[in-house]
Amino acid sequence: MRCGAFAIGLGLLLVAPQSDAQETTPVDSAAEDPATPDANGVNEGSATDPSASQPVEVEPAEEAVQQDAGWDEEPPAFEPRPIDPVLLAMGRQRGAAVYRTYCSSCHGSRGDGRGPAARFLSVAPRDLTAGVYKWRTTASGSLPTDADLLRTVRQGAPGTPMPAWEGRLSIRDMWSVVQYIKTFSPRFAEEGPPEPLPMPDQTPALDRAARRRGRLVYVLLQCWTCHGMDGTGNGPAAASLLDDNGNPVVAYDFTQNTLRAGNRPFDLYRTFTSGVNGTPMPSYDEALIVGRDGFSDLGTFEQVLSEEGMAELRRSVAAMPLTEELWGLPESERQLWASRRRWDLVAYVRSLSGGDSFWQYLWSRSHAN
Ligand code: HEC
Ligand code: HEC
Repeated sequence: MRCGAFAIGLGLLLVAPQSDAQETTPVDSAAEDPATPDANGVNEGSATDPSASQPVEVEPAEEAVQQDAGWDEEPPAFEPRPIDPVLLAMGRQRGAAVYRTYCSSCHGSRGDGRGPAARFLSVAPRDLTAGVYKWRTTASGSLPTDADLLRTVRQGAPGTPMPAWEGRLSIRDMWSVVQYIKTFSPRFAEEGPPEPLPMPDQTPALDRAARRRGRLVYVLLQCWTCHGMDGTGNGPAAASLLDDNGNPVVAYDFTQNTLRAGNRPFDLYRTFTSGVNGTPMPSYDEALIVGRDGFSDLGTFEQVLSEEGMAELRRSVAAMPLTEELWGLPESERQLWASRRRWDLVAYVRSLSGGDSFWQYLWSRSHAN
């Protein structure tokens, strides 16, 4: 399985440089010393060597790291193995040099998000000292896993100035810089490694039926209060949204914006499971385990639904189990129930961004008029 290949690949990153021949690294001394990397794959000393700040070609590894297999489609279902403290220290040292060269201009040398380039940017670089991360596989409010940070560094945040470093930095440098940025916030040392939430390793069919069910979830969970029924971000609550620092934050326009967490179905699924820390975007993990009794008053939905839409909503809610019944299910079945709902939401939100105006067909007020 591809994920397995990746897990092995990640294990290898500690012992072998990346296969990509054209990559450069600011801290690798492989060119000077053909015997490196050592068994740890981290070059001692070079990070503090001022001459090492020049990019140096890395020799291609014999053992190819299978990082690309499946990267574009499915999540790598791995968590790095516990890291040897010595390796960790070396990785951090290397990461510090990577950070200085590639990240500090935006994120600041102290990680506070105030690098010299920051004030010219449309989106503020993250203050890495806060330990509040948007893109995670962990519960709302939790720290990200190393794999989450590595994913972010690799794929960047599309639609913002945060670049994708895949292909520009070796996987080893990316892993190292991840270890380094974790030192900016005391949360990582205090709380220890966070527990990732269960994530699916396959995407189900996101067909018309799924979109239709997803639309129902979108309505019931009131995503539209922020994102609007048409997904343009014009919901009634949108104008008053603030981030954790009290700055206005824009509810996403699914029809225009590139999703920052990535556009793969899994990326959306992940966002729904974990929420977007630091912003009003909630997580829909256990919040999805609500049965028909949770929706006894459907009056609010009249403001956004046509008559047909309301009729379909009533029918669908009546067919739902009771909340108590859902909580009575074995854990795995209950998770499956919530998981289906999240996939349905993925199908619906993707249809909004794809210019698919299916939502208008039954649900918009304009359709009723
Ligand atoms: C050109 C400016 C720029 C550079 C260079 C840059 N970043 Fe960023 N970075 C950003 C911006 C802007 C954001 C915030 C995006 C958002 O909030 O939507 C960000 C966000 C992040 C996040 C937050 C992810 C989360 O889940 O919240 C991490 C981690 C990060 N960057 C790491 C790095 C690392 C590591 C480097 C260097 C290899 C780097 N960045 C280089 C601009 C930059
Ligand atoms: C209280 C307001 C609010 C509600 C309710 C809400 N969102 Fe969001 N959502 C936001 C904000 C604000 C952002 C932007 C986060 C950021 O700045 O990165 C966002 C971001 C997103 C993103 C984009 C993540 C990315 O890749 O950058 C998706 C997808 C999304 N919301 C879907 C939903 C769905 C589906 C629901 C309902 C199940 C929902 N939202 C409910 C406010 C909300």
